[in-house]
Amino acid sequence: MLSLMSVETVTPDTSLNAGPLTLIHEADNAPGWWRSAVIYQVYPRSFRDLNGDGVGDLAGITEELPHLADLGVDAVWLSPFYRSPQRDAGYDVSDYCDVDPIFGTLGDFDVMMAESHRLGLRVIVDLVPNHCSDQHAAFQAALAAPAGSPERDMFIFRDGTGPDGSEPPNNWQSHFGGPAWTRVARPDGQPDQWYLHLFDSSQPDFNWDNPAVHAEFERVLRFWLDRGVSGFRVDVAHALVKAPGLPAWGGRADGGSSEGFPGHEAPMFGQPALHDIYRNWRRILDQYGPDRILCAEANVDPLPRLANWVRPDQMHQAFNFPYLHAGLDVYRLRGVITDSLEALDAVGAPSTWVLSNHDVVRHASRFGYNGQGPRDGDGIGPADPQPDIALGRRRAAAASLFMLGLPGAAYLYQGEELGLPDGVDIPEHLRQDPTFARTGGERLGRDGCRIPLPWRAAETHLGFGHGRDPWLPFPSSFAALARDLQAASPSSHLALYRDILRLRRGLNLGRGSLSWAEDWCTGSSLGYVNGTTLVLMNLNHDPLEMPAGHVLLRSDPSGAGRFLASGETAWLQLGPDAAAD
Ligand code: GLC
Repeated sequence: MLSLMSVETVTPDTSLNAGPLTLIHEADNAPGWWRSAVIYQVYPRSFRDLNGDGVGDLAGITEELPHLADLGVDAVWLSPFYRSPQRDAGYDVSDYCDVDPIFGTLGDFDVMMAESHRLGLRVIVDLVPNHCSDQHAAFQAALAAPAGSPERDMFIFRDGTGPDGSEPPNNWQSHFGGPAWTRVARPDGQPDQWYLHLFDSSQPDFNWDNPAVHAEFERVLRFWLDRGVSGFRVDVAHALVKAPGLPAWGGRADGGSSEGFPGHEAPMFGQPALHDIYRNWRRILDQYGPDRILCAEANVDPLPRLANWVRPDQMHQAFNFPYLHAGLDVYRLRGVITDSLEALDAVGAPSTWVLSNHDVVRHASRFGYNGQGPRDGDGIGPADPQPDIALGRRRAAAASLFMLGLPGAAYLYQGEELGLPDGVDIPEHLRQDPTFARTGGERLGRDGCRIPLPWRAAETHLGFGHGRDPWLPFPSSFAALARDLQAASPSSHLALYRDILRLRRGLNLGRGSLSWAEDWCTGSSLGYVNGTTLVLMNLNHDPLEMPAGHVLLRSDPSGAGRFLASGETAWLQLGPDAAAD
């Protein structure tokens, strides 16, 4: 286990021209590929449609995997491809041990695994244990069985309140809007009990107080481990267990803190009994060797709570949502990075870093706002203030270069290497995120960040597929951002990502140390040293003078000289032999 570093300002080695440094984190030599890995999220619906039905598939992933190997990532994480009615884009699973026909077959999965391993890529899959689809056989059995039956006990059924039970059992709200309870009817049509769904009504929550639920998921873990996966991204990992008695909660449905409702008191998140579940899963993974990992999707605040999920005997890592939410606020970024490294060093785990995923507006769009951008999960519509995409892409490149110099593991979301923005002009009838329907269109939802990838500019559907229209339409800007055009240009966003990942690996930055370079930490710039690499990001309107050093990479390839422009990041190699650029 790593020891917690005391924070001190040290006089640096004079050969590193970086001024005073504040050491936060020491280099990490502990074994484990995942401690420094760059993991690329594939969103199967939108990656590549090989069979021409308008939706991406496993064969399409296999086909394009060489591009990911070439990009230089270590692993891919696949969002759900299991059997599902697709009411929440596959996060509503009706069979955890089969592939949905829209994505292919288990045979296609095995071929994809073999190709990944041939290319030296590991594969992590999504596990959705908080809820399933209402079409899952267990839920159908629960509906057919009476109140109090073992079938109902797989889920969270309760009688309603009010004189005739017509009010929900408590006041919990769904993440996607509206009450978190839906009432069912008896076979004779008479109103019956209510079931809990923290998400859509088509996603009933499992009852994790029931050992049968534990047994079922242990089977699911083994099924995919036996097929060679390197681990699991665990969906809403902090939600499985609910506080006894399901006490009322008037705070945010996503468990974030709000006035009078600190997130750590939310009765549906972060309950102590979760630890035993993950200890047990860890034991199962460890039976397959030390290389299989669990990563928690646990959107909790404040940051030290995140470390609750990662322990030597529980999860290996957790997504760092506070980092994603810090945006480009240099004070928040510094605070989150310091807190992350300290909190996770204390439990012997690496931090992770992430800027985009399938639930948030892409960072090329988010950073295109000078003021307040869209809220998580709300999306951007044609009537909303529009981001300045050129600005957003420039800042996105800076933010990615900054992030990928940090020690620890990083998660990338498909298309961010192309600097893709969100789609804005999505006709209402094509919107699929349940948030849109459940809020009567008030919240647009997450479809904008899920637009298919543009592979080849001159081909039908930009090379995503050659048959039916893609399930979401391309924004007009996507043609110019197609991968083939960017692959041919040394100054493209894609070329920058490739260079970053090559250098990150060559300099071993994922395993490195972190010290704040105080002279560069101003109100509008941030600088840190990892090993002998100085990473500087400037968000000021004025250029920032860089110290003497060999410039390894800058996020704006047109930039040159001793100055760093606004919205730019550079990596500099410091040391006695460093020459001024
Ligand atoms: C997670 C997923 C999100 C999904 C939700 C319910 O937050 O990332 O896409 O809608 O869980 O499963």
